[in-house]
Amino acid sequence: VTTRSEDIPADAARWVMTDEGRIHVQAAMADSSADPLAVASHLRQHGLDPARAATVQSVAAGTRSARTAGQPADTWWTPAAAEQASDPQVAAWRARRYSDVPAVDLTAGCGGDTLALLARATDVVAIERDASRVPFLHANVGERGWVVMGDATRPPLRPGDGWLAFADPARRAGGRRLRSLGEVIPSVPALTATRWDGLGIAVSPAIDLADPARPDDAELEFIQVGPSLREGVLWLGALRAATTLAAETSAGNRVGGSASITSATLLPSGLHRAGAPRPPTGAIRPPEAWLLVPAPALVRARLADEVADELGAARLARGRALYTSASDPGSPWFTAEPIEAVVPARPAAVRDALRALEGLPVEIVLHGFDAVVDRWWRDMGRPPRGGPRAAPSTSHAWTTDPWPS
Ligand SMILES: C[S@@+](CC[C@H](N)C(=O)[O-])C[C@H]1O[C@@H](n2cnc3c(N)ncnc32)[C@H](O)[C@@H]1O
Repeated sequence: VTTRSEDIPADAARWVMTDEGRIHVQAAMADSSADPLAVASHLRQHGLDPARAATVQSVAAGTRSARTAGQPADTWWTPAAAEQASDPQVAAWRARRYSDVPAVDLTAGCGGDTLALLARATDVVAIERDASRVPFLHANVGERGWVVMGDATRPPLRPGDGWLAFADPARRAGGRRLRSLGEVIPSVPALTATRWDGLGIAVSPAIDLADPARPDDAELEFIQVGPSLREGVLWLGALRAATTLAAETSAGNRVGGSASITSATLLPSGLHRAGAPRPPTGAIRPPEAWLLVPAPALVRARLADEVADELGAARLARGRALYTSASDPGSPWFTAEPIEAVVPARPAAVRDALRALEGLPVEIVLHGFDAVVDRWWRDMGRPPRGGPRAAPSTSHAWTTDPWPS
């Protein structure tokens, strides 16, 4: 067992989760509108030394931000743990795979995923190695599960006794982002080496599909909340969905030389799709009446071509996940925009087309070519408000005012 430094020392964490500590945190939270210096002096008037007063203020801040992010009202958090906690919607979605089985949360933190597992699994064991998080985990789990301070890579349970495991390894250390599956803490190879019957591992949605530590036989799920791609999950063994296994069989099991299975999920609706990812080999068609922009989770799972096929849509270009169709398919997997005009990708031509549309505010999104956005904006004749902005994969320029004619 290792005890690692956190934003709150372990002994302070133990004290702040006593009845006395919690009363002070509650009072500091109620004082939220007050100036922090006033709250600190208030706490000192109640006999707290400066170190304890600082702990109370820190836990009040962490707890407030976690509860605002949707964690239950009776839970307690340090600021760092609140920041690392899973989005409750995502945690609840993942926990469905642990319905009616005993579950172990291998990297519990202060319990974001543990709480979701408690709502689904028959029994829950939460493991956390950081002594400064364990008191919070204890407070949040209460009598509903078991909390163990220990190392996930040497679990106190025997894998194979029917327990299905979940891990959410840390993706940052010392202010640095840990990008590869071998670097996250604990690492993916260290977790898979424990050989659970079923194991789910939360990973970055920006996971490199060619990461050498990505287990070949895992389902890789991409979870989107609203418009934003939020999480990836590797599902191993018994936790791979039945639908996934069926898709694997019907797709002949091998894509690009490995047994690669992916899935995409949209929250809050819970729309889910699993399949064998496929390279973009489908038909390419010129623009028809509608432009279809696929959900990022579907693109990352490389399932957009398959769904587009089913909807009678086709790609606009080999290297771009943009599709076109003759009618709006009304699919939640795609945002459909009517195509008003097809014009050459030159500023003057686009400006003339916009003038013809008269009086509408516009957003210009340039997909897949190197444009100097500022220059485009200038060459288009710059409307009165709004401005250019470059994003990683697309470039945007917008105005909230009608385009001047
Ligand atoms: C990203 S946080 C987990 C957050 C949690 N899923 C939640 O939603 O609140 C990762 C946690 O794993 C713990 N951890 C890292 N290595 C571990 C190990 N070998 N054994 C147990 N816990 C570990 C860290 O201390 C940290 O609290």
